[in-house]
Amino acid sequence: MTEPVVHFDRVTKRFGDVVAVDDVDLEIEEGEFFALLGGSGCGKTTLLRLLAGFERPTSGRVLIGGEDVTDVPAHRRPVNMMFQSYALFPHMSVEKNVAFGLKQDGLPKAEIATRVEEALRLVELTGLGGRRPDQLSGGQRQRVALARALIKRPRVLLLDEPLAALDKRLREQTQFELMRIQDEVGITFIVVTHDQEEAMSLATRIGVMRAGRIVQTGTPREIYETPQNRFVADFIGSVNLLDGRVVAVDGTRVTLAVDRLGINVIVDEASAEVDTVCALALRPEKIVVSIDEPTAPNRVEGIVKEIGYLGASCIVRVRTGSGDVLQAVQPNRQRDLSLAFEWDQRVWLSWSEASGVLVFE
Ligand SMILES: Nc1ncnc2c1ncn2[C@@H]1O[C@H](COP(=O)(O)OP(=O)(O)OP(=O)(O)O)[C@@H](O)[C@H]1O
Ligand SMILES: [Mg+2]
Repeated sequence: MTEPVVHFDRVTKRFGDVVAVDDVDLEIEEGEFFALLGGSGCGKTTLLRLLAGFERPTSGRVLIGGEDVTDVPAHRRPVNMMFQSYALFPHMSVEKNVAFGLKQDGLPKAEIATRVEEALRLVELTGLGGRRPDQLSGGQRQRVALARALIKRPRVLLLDEPLAALDKRLREQTQFELMRIQDEVGITFIVVTHDQEEAMSLATRIGVMRAGRIVQTGTPREIYETPQNRFVADFIGSVNLLDGRVVAVDGTRVTLAVDRLGINVIVDEASAEVDTVCALALRPEKIVVSIDEPTAPNRVEGIVKEIGYLGASCIVRVRTGSGDVLQAVQPNRQRDLSLAFEWDQRVWLSWSEASGVLVFE
């Protein structure tokens, strides 16, 4: 077993009455692209600052490469942080901004020049070294900040909302850039974001935070397909939560009575005890909408109440007899409009036994 590059060993950080980080135990392996995902104020920035050395934990330890750095000052830790606002020096050229850390370390001029050139190439800003930040676009400024953080070759790079200032298109493009750069330099990236799609597309692993705690860690797929509780199911993507009570268990096949819909739902690959109160988390794209009654055992009838046309897919909101609304996403495989559903149309919703997961809290 190799040491994880980062280890938060039961770290808590209080600011007066506020528990910003609450007993976090987290290990991150060398070379990972790890995303901390959570809503505003859940403690993401504080967790990064604890790792960078700008905050001291109230209790617990921070280890980097197996070494306890809890008492090591920020400038002596092998990490670099790119702040939520890029904090570029406005009066300095791009080159000088990028060179800043190396100059402070007193490196020879020639080496600084070589490394600045290399860093600018890495972020595709070759030739723009002479400009000032206010002569750049938002995306270019973001890349200057990235170059400045990378140039010191930290073991771990911390990025706090690196793409928040960019518009949607540029953000998507820059996501791929970040992945390419991480792959090229091979260092561990920890990125903070409140945007779940960004976390899913960037990261090899995600930690979902809520109120100072990490509530689940896993690959994007694990987080999406196997949420461990209602919060994660609801926070990541859209979900239908069907509250019910377990009425039968046969191995890993569980029958859930969903009283509000007046149906029994069969869930495979589940584990629960009879009488447990829980919910089925069912993603909209796992539901099939049809006009004829399907043969699938999990089905419910309803009336189309809303259709959202998104181009690649349609969101269909269907009101069931109980008044509950379920949401389904249907891919638009044909251009033919006559195949689409209409408002107030009577339809069936169905899904397979393996397409939902039970969540218990
Ligand atoms: N220096 C401080 N003094 C007092 N409270 C603080 C301090 N820094 C952070 N907090 C509080 O700790 C909690 C977590 O803050 P943090 O900045 O880590 O959240 P965040 O997840 O980064 O949020 P955002 O997505 O809005 O940036 C918040 O309630 C915040 O008000
Ligand atoms: Mg923050």
